[in-house]
Amino acid sequence: MVLKIFTWVLLLKLAFSANDGFTYNGFNSANLSLDGLAALSSDGLLKLTNVSKHAQGHAFFSLPLQFKKSPADSVISFSTTFVFAIVPEYPTFGGAGFTFVLSPSKDMSHALPNYFLGLFNMTNNGKPYNHILAVEFDTSHSPEAHDIDNNHVGIDINGLISNQSAPAAFKSDADGQFKNLSLSSGKPIQVWIEYDGIDMQLNVTLSPLWMPKPKGALLSLPINLSSIILDHMYVGFSASTGIAYSYYYILGWSFKMYGEVPELNLSSLPSLPQPLTSFEKSKALSIWLPIFLSILVLVTAAILKLIMMRKKKFSELQEDWELDLGSNRFSYKQLYKATGGFKDKYLLGAGGFGRVYRGVLPASKVEVAVKRISHESRQGVREFVAEIASLGKLRHRNLVQLLGYCRRKGELLLVYEYMPNGSLDNNLFGEGRQALNWGQRFHIIKGVASGLQYFARRLGPSCDS
Ligand SMILES: *[C@@H]1O[C@H](CO)[C@@H](O)[C@H](O)[C@H]1NC(C)=O
Ligand SMILES: *[C@@H]1O[C@H](CO)[C@@H](O)[C@H](O)[C@H]1NC(C)=O
Ligand SMILES: *[C@@H]1O[C@H](CO)[C@@H](O)[C@H](O)[C@H]1NC(C)=O
Ligand SMILES: *[C@@H]1O[C@H](CO)[C@@H](O)[C@H](O)[C@H]1NC(C)=O
Ligand SMILES: *[C@@H]1O[C@H](CO)[C@@H](O)[C@H](O)[C@H]1NC(C)=O
Ligand SMILES: *[C@@H]1O[C@H](CO)[C@@H](O)[C@H](O)[C@H]1NC(C)=O
Ligand SMILES: *[C@@H]1O[C@H](CO)[C@@H](O)[C@H](O)[C@H]1NC(C)=O
Ligand SMILES: *[C@@H]1O[C@H](CO)[C@@H](O)[C@H](O)[C@H]1NC(C)=O
Repeated sequence: MVLKIFTWVLLLKLAFSANDGFTYNGFNSANLSLDGLAALSSDGLLKLTNVSKHAQGHAFFSLPLQFKKSPADSVISFSTTFVFAIVPEYPTFGGAGFTFVLSPSKDMSHALPNYFLGLFNMTNNGKPYNHILAVEFDTSHSPEAHDIDNNHVGIDINGLISNQSAPAAFKSDADGQFKNLSLSSGKPIQVWIEYDGIDMQLNVTLSPLWMPKPKGALLSLPINLSSIILDHMYVGFSASTGIAYSYYYILGWSFKMYGEVPELNLSSLPSLPQPLTSFEKSKALSIWLPIFLSILVLVTAAILKLIMMRKKKFSELQEDWELDLGSNRFSYKQLYKATGGFKDKYLLGAGGFGRVYRGVLPASKVEVAVKRISHESRQGVREFVAEIASLGKLRHRNLVQLLGYCRRKGELLLVYEYMPNGSLDNNLFGEGRQALNWGQRFHIIKGVASGLQYFARRLGPSCDS
């Protein structure tokens, strides 16, 4: 019997304490409802936002808490403490801010980001039916919300225009002076928010992490919350990003109805992701930027050099007078390709006149012989080329057909029809050749004579005799 009563008392106590408060040193085992950008990291860090801009995130304790014993009653005293850190996108410029909020609902889908802080929209901003109490940690200076600066703490009742606000600071116990704090420094800051239901006073106190709670509060607002807070409310956080983002982290959170909130165990809070400090960033930049730039310069130079080499490799000489000579001209690139880059493998012969290569024209697949003649002076080149061009118009069974030419600096290339059986010279005197009989010799001589005759006729009357 005694045991049974004891068990009942214990169960009641547990049930009661479940709605009485909670302490989370890291959120691994926390009962939270997250929405929007909000997420939990694997080591229990609550991240209210990410790099998304013009967006918001919310994290509420999943269960509603009872703030009044009955709707007619006054609000019960409550207190909370949490540790946060804000890491902005740029050292002096980041997201809009975050809030600690008491709300009748966890559904904040009607709220807007930017200076609305994920709490209100155009229609409901400032309206008593919201029943929202928030403490804002505002990191952007929004004239719409009558903000005092871009680094302030404010108490917001049902709207964005704070009932009371002050630049972020803490009151030193030693000299009673306010010491400025930078909300967006990336360093953890601890906050205490306390409401005294009898004195009807709401206090907000900040301090750098590891410093004992300052005796003096930053904000202290006399307020009767009875008409603002409903008997059941959700407690949590909202955060919003704007044209830039900040990471809003909550490292630990403790909440208590009645009396004083249990302290957080600061040494068991999750650690913050280690971002590059601006010094490290500038150091990294000062090391990597020159390396990157010099690599860029080198690569560009190499590409330019390659292009120049390629241009030089295939460069040609062409003068105006050549345009009149018609289509006998080949590009060097064509001939280069035809002969596999003038490989020795395709060398047909070499002599005082130059070297002759065998090749196949890339487009037409016509077999050709390419003769490379180097010449030092420009003298007589014009006449020579003109001659060649006219030779190209000759056609005779016993004359090797000249197909065209190409001209480069100090070099002339002649393109002939390819004779598969080699030269006459080779046929007559080549190794292992048998002497021709008189019949064959006469046939050849007649052929040569016929070719010469055609040649003579075409070149004009002076040669005719
Ligand atoms: C930010 O978080 C939201 C919600 O989890 C996700 O949909 C979005 O992709 C995230 N954005 C980035 C840039 O990671
Ligand atoms: C967590 O919250 C949900 C309501 O969102 C509730 O059903 C559940 O019992 C809670 N779990 C714990 C362990 O408190
Ligand atoms: C603003 O939020 C309220 C809920 O508080 C919603 O009923 C209303 O439709 C919203 N207005 C706009 C313009 O989204
Ligand atoms: C401050 O709080 C009261 C609620 O007591 C509210 O009516 C008032 O509009 C709030 N806003 C400002 C800017 O004072
Ligand atoms: C503290 O911040 C306030 C407002 O931003 C500023 O006016 C004041 O000069 C600052 N004090 C110090 C010591 O930096
Ligand atoms: C709130 O702050 C004021 C002024 O610092 C102080 O007198 C009062 O005791 C504080 N109340 C609570 C509940 O801490
Ligand atoms: C607080 O406000 C409630 C509701 O408006 C009212 O009934 C109550 O008398 C007020 N308390 C004090 C002490 O003024
Ligand atoms: C605080 O956390 C540390 C590390 O997790 C642990 O060793 C220590 O016992 C805790 N202290 C209390 C009072 O729970």
